[in-house]
Order: sequence, then structure tokens, then C-alpha cells
Amino acid sequence: MTKYNTLKKELKRNQSTWLVTGIAGFIGSNLLETLLKLDQKVVGLDNFSTGHQYNLDEVKELVTPEQWANFDLIQGDIRDINTCNQACNGVRYVLHQAALGSVPRSIEDPALTNANNISGFLNMLIAARDANVKRFVYAASSSTYGDHPDLPKQEPNIGNPLSPYAVTKLVNELYADVFARMYDFKTIGLRYFNIFGQRQDPNGAYAAVIPKWYSGLLSGNDVFINGDGETSRDFCFIDNCVQVNLLAATVQSTEATNQVYNVAFGERNTLNRLHQLIKERVEQSGAKQGDSRLIYRDFRAGDVRHSLADISKAEKLLGYAPQYSIEKGLDKATQWYTTNMTRNFSPKKDCCE
Ligand SMILES: NC(=O)c1ccc[n+]([C@@H]2O[C@H](COP(=O)([O-])OP(=O)(O)OC[C@H]3O[C@@H](n4cnc5c(N)ncnc54)[C@H](O)[C@@H]3O)[C@@H](O)[C@H]2O)c1
Repeated sequence: MTKYNTLKKELKRNQSTWLVTGIAGFIGSNLLETLLKLDQKVVGLDNFSTGHQYNLDEVKELVTPEQWANFDLIQGDIRDINTCNQACNGVRYVLHQAALGSVPRSIEDPALTNANNISGFLNMLIAARDANVKRFVYAASSSTYGDHPDLPKQEPNIGNPLSPYAVTKLVNELYADVFARMYDFKTIGLRYFNIFGQRQDPNGAYAAVIPKWYSGLLSGNDVFINGDGETSRDFCFIDNCVQVNLLAATVQSTEATNQVYNVAFGERNTLNRLHQLIKERVEQSGAKQGDSRLIYRDFRAGDVRHSLADISKAEKLLGYAPQYSIEKGLDKATQWYTTNMTRNFSPKKDCCE
């Protein structure tokens, strides 16, 4: 039995209170779904800048009424310390996901990204420390590797950040490390590589490539590749990401805490192959509403050429055992995007577009 299966059984027997920030977003709402299904109590914090009420509504449909009653939502902003203090009150574990994602957004508005991702992060650290939270797990990013040439990426070997977004995620790690040493506060940073799956938003100028391509391929609109398509990434299905969050929150060994870990599948795929994999699945689904053209355009500023994670540290110290390959993850994602295309794919105006 994997460590994750054992942990899920333990959680089912023992209820704890978890705070998930960014709960209405892609990763946050998936954490919520899993935690509620494990009969945990969850406090969620979100300002709905890029998250959606319909993500929470969908989770409500997927759990029992009793499980849903274990969820409390605070609509608020991590840039406000009082809100962070309120959210951390009585909480055992924090899974901090709230941030403004997207490299291009950070290039357009570095101050906004800084305020959310650095000031907001520091507020959350202070509030969690003051509330005696047992573990603070936070969403770090593979962008921290910046211009370091090594492949696969190993945690100690980072380069210079290539965007304001990458700076913010690096600063998060520096703050978490200082809080560990100054205040003996237990943190774990999870450097997410390209996470994909159900509820990842296809709308808006800053959408990620996989949801954007599902939307285009299903609706018959053109899809774009920045560059020649030989750019590669370590695409990681959301359920692997949820697994590692729960393992990181509960791991006991002191060697494993106050660390950062790569979160990925450990395999590199080019954008050309990714497009092929999604196209095949969309065609087989029978839900396609038109023919979409694939258009190549210029490389995008701030993008790294190749990315691949060494996941052995998380395997060894956290017991991480990713269950979904890119193919298996895309099978599940295709089911979700084909089913939800009409319900969720209406463009939303938000503060950051
Ligand atoms: N998805 C990925 O591939 C990936 C890769 C690397 C890192 N990350 C990080 O993972 C985290 C979650 O990303 P996601 O893909 O779920 O993005 P998302 O945009 O779907 O979710 C982020 C959520 O945080 C909320 N939020 C943003 N600013 C807030 C604030 N000031 N106060 C309260 N709530 C706020 C948003 O409304 C949204 O619901 C982020 O920290 C992101 O930087 C994601």
C-alpha cells in the first residue's frame, strides 16, 4: 500500500481543520474536494480575482451534504492581515494556494503580482505562525529554476528568475526558510511544474495552455503554439498535486520539513506532442463542434525552453508516488472538459484581465 493510501485511511478516522487559500481556483477546489471526501473540516479563503463560485458549486455536487457542512468559506483577501488572522484561527494545516499566476500577467503588472504573491504570502505566514498552525504548505513554482541549464531540475540548483512572477515565488521560499529558522515555524514549499486537470480555467488572457487548447479544439477555434512547438514541459495531473499536498502537510520526519520539493510527473513532453495527445482525445470524444487550426507564432518573453523535474526528493522524503501519467491525466481531463464545456466556458471579466 502506498503512503498516500495509508494517509487517506488515517485522515478518514481523524478529523482535522485545514485552511486552503485560493479555494475557488483550480488547485484549491481540487484540494477542497479531496479533503471533504476524507471527512476533514475545511476553511476556504478566496477573493475570487481568478477563482469562480462555480468551482465550489461543482465540489458541492461531488460530496455528501454532511461533508459539505464541514466547509466554511471566507470571501476575503490575503493582502489584508486581519482576514488572514481570522482564516487561520483554530486551523491545524494550511495549504496556501492563493496567488496571481501567469508569467505574462506579472510582466504587464509586476506591482499587482508582487502585492498578492509577496505581501499576501507574508501576511499568511505571520497569521499562521501566530495561530500556532502545525504545518504551512505553500504553492511554490518551477519558475524558480529560471535560467539554470540543468535537466532534470533538482531542488538545490536554481538560476536567475526570468520574470516578476518567478521573483515572487523565489521570495516566498526565502521567507518560508527564514520563518523556519527565526521562529521554528514548520513550512514545506511545493514547486509545481505544469499542473493540469479538472476545473483549470480556459478563459481569460492568462489561461494556461492545456485548458486553452481544450476550449479551442472542442469549439473549433484556432489554437496557438508560441515558438516551434519543441518547447517541453513536465505536465503533471492535478490528482498527483493533491496527493503531495496532503503528504507534505502531515509528514512527521524533521528531515522532510522546512524543505522545498518538485511536484511533477518526472517526464518531459513537447508542446507538439501535447497538442497531438489532446487532439486525439477530443476527436475520440465525439464532442468536437468544429475544426480548429494549429497556428505557430513567436516565442513568448520569459518562457524557459525546456523543463523536467527530478522528483526523487519528494518520493524519498514524502513518500510521493504519482499515480497519473500525462496520458492517464489527459483521459480524465478530456472527460471533464467535454462534459463541462457548455456550463463553465463563458468568459468572465475579472480584475486582472
Ligand atoms: N497551475 C499550475 O500549473 C501552477 C504552477 C506553478 C505554481 N502554481 C501556483 O499554484 C497556486 C494555485 O494556482 P491555480 O493554478 O490553482 O490558479 P487559480 O488562479 O486557479 O487559483 C488561484 C486562486 O487564488 C485566489 N486569489 C488570488 N489572489 C488572492 C488574494 N489576494 N486573496 C485571496 N485569494 C486570492 C484566486 O481568486 C483563485 O481562486 C498559485 O499560487 C500558483 O502560483 C500553479
